[in-house]
Amino acid sequence: MKVAPSLLSCDFSKMGEEVRRITDAGADLIHLDVMDGHFVPNLTIGPGIVKAVRPFSELPFDVHLMISHPLQYIDAFADAGADIITFHVEAEDDIDETIEKIRSRGILPGIVLKPKTPAEAAFPYLDKVYMVLVMTVEPGFGGQSFMYDMMPKAEKLRREIDSRRLDVLIEADGGISASTVDECAKAGIDISVSGTGVFKAPDAAEAIRQLQSAGR
Ligand code: DX5
Ligand code: ZN
Repeated sequence: MKVAPSLLSCDFSKMGEEVRRITDAGADLIHLDVMDGHFVPNLTIGPGIVKAVRPFSELPFDVHLMISHPLQYIDAFADAGADIITFHVEAEDDIDETIEKIRSRGILPGIVLKPKTPAEAAFPYLDKVYMVLVMTVEPGFGGQSFMYDMMPKAEKLRREIDSRRLDVLIEADGGISASTVDECAKAGIDISVSGTGVFKAPDAAEAIRQLQSAGR
């Protein structure tokens, strides 16, 4: 299991140091949550912050766009140093066009499914994306409870990806901690996003190690 700590739960008064701390603690990727106050009822960071914290880690930056119009912001996040950009299939822009735009900038594209969106919504894009992100909470806030009922959706995606012999990663996001990560591993999830579970842990390195050992 790869672990992507979500900066949403870091100390915002020292984000650069937090990125460094979590990198040194053994994270595999850095997950950055971008919210526009429209697609979700919360506002977070934009490309300026992504760019400002970029020098604090060599790890891939996994930018999760929870915004209604992702297409017009791809260039800004590419310039800011994103390595992976995921956007929601429920957003308002054309999905194929947005995937192509991300690829054209040399960035790995991913699509995200909100809890009420079925696995099948991702099927037409599986041969075009690097990753599918399954939300295991309603997007918008950290610290919510893990939705166990999203595991059948992840399993369905895993079966479809494997049966088509594709090489697409599945990421899960929301409520993941030592007590829920084994469910994710069992469902065939490759990457776990964890905000509170890592940043609020007394020992971040230990928390990350625990998550990484899921399913072993
Ligand atoms: C929620 C965000 C998540 C969030 C996860 O909308 O996409 O990345 O930070 O936080 P925890 O792990 O606290 O649920
Ligand atoms: Zn996220």
